[in-house]
Amino acid sequence: MSFQILGTGAYTPEKILTNDELSSLVDTSDEWITQRVGVKERRISVCESAAEMGAKAAQRALDAAGITAEQLDLIVGATVSADCICPSMSAMVQKQIGAHCPAFDVNSACSGFLFALDTAAAFLERGGIQYALVLGAERLSRIVDWTDRSTCVIFADGAGAFVIAKGENYLGSHLFTQGGDSVLHIPLGRGNSPFYEKEEQPLAVHMSGQETFKFAVTQIENDLKLIANQAGIDLSEVSWIVPHQANYRIIELAARRLRIPIEKFVLNLEYYGNTSSASVPICFDSLVRSGKLKKGDLIALCAFGGGLSSAACLIRW
Ligand code: UT7
Repeated sequence: MSFQILGTGAYTPEKILTNDELSSLVDTSDEWITQRVGVKERRISVCESAAEMGAKAAQRALDAAGITAEQLDLIVGATVSADCICPSMSAMVQKQIGAHCPAFDVNSACSGFLFALDTAAAFLERGGIQYALVLGAERLSRIVDWTDRSTCVIFADGAGAFVIAKGENYLGSHLFTQGGDSVLHIPLGRGNSPFYEKEEQPLAVHMSGQETFKFAVTQIENDLKLIANQAGIDLSEVSWIVPHQANYRIIELAARRLRIPIEKFVLNLEYYGNTSSASVPICFDSLVRSGKLKKGDLIALCAFGGGLSSAACLIRW
């Protein structure tokens, strides 16, 4: 199963919310957030939906790939914070960029982009399609509880996208799900059914931070070892690792356990926070545009989050 990346794109909304500004909303401080999470500021959408941000990232990826939206054969998107359940975020992106291909979303929370990428890879492998757009787009600011300081300080908004085509550069992938809603749960909130007997939780991110933290460190370690084994390489051969940007301490601990220098981990959470499914493609796009990538470089992508889920893949540039 393989593909090559033809172009990447990212979009983050203009509004910057600093830790100091957040401190006037909830009982927190720049010092706490910087030390415990590693975020200094994040982007917040004041009017754009996940799909609108996704369409902008998608257009940038199309421009980088040098193809038009009409040439796309498939759109697979990932989101947990679209404006509606139906149509899918990807269907809205399809309309906004002017594509005509099938479009659907996968939901695997912060690992969603890598689940979507693997899904598109399988379509390319099956044959009959040439170009696929894969994107992660989130407006998490609409679903966090802005009175809950344990979540509203970490999540943020943005979108990232890849345009891919059949090729030989996807060397291995691993998807993992440990089902259950006790650690991380985003309920929809109830409608007005007169028949429900149980009171439902309101729409908001409910997260046990420490449990998620432990899961994340373990999964980064396990998943990266697995994909390296799968591809028959040693992890030391990987030039760059693009991890889900959830918490600097998670990444640092995983790096230490894997004995990989932290410098190999691409980081942007200081400026963008945790954008869930958008975090890996936004960060990957910054690596591409930094000019640091050399042909032949091995890049590992990894993510973890609600589901619980985790995923990793290995790409040759
Ligand atoms: O993307 C989806 C995956 N999500 C993640 O990967 C998140 C993983 N978890 C984390 O990043 C961290 O667990 C958090 C950043 C969410 C929390 O950090 P922590 O170091 O695990 O803090 P904690 O929950 O153990 O809380 C420690 C203390 C508590 O106070 P007491 O009980 O010791 O007095 C909290 O009430 O820190 C307090 N606290 C805060 N204080 C100031 C929690 N949030 C804040 C805050 N500002 N924003």
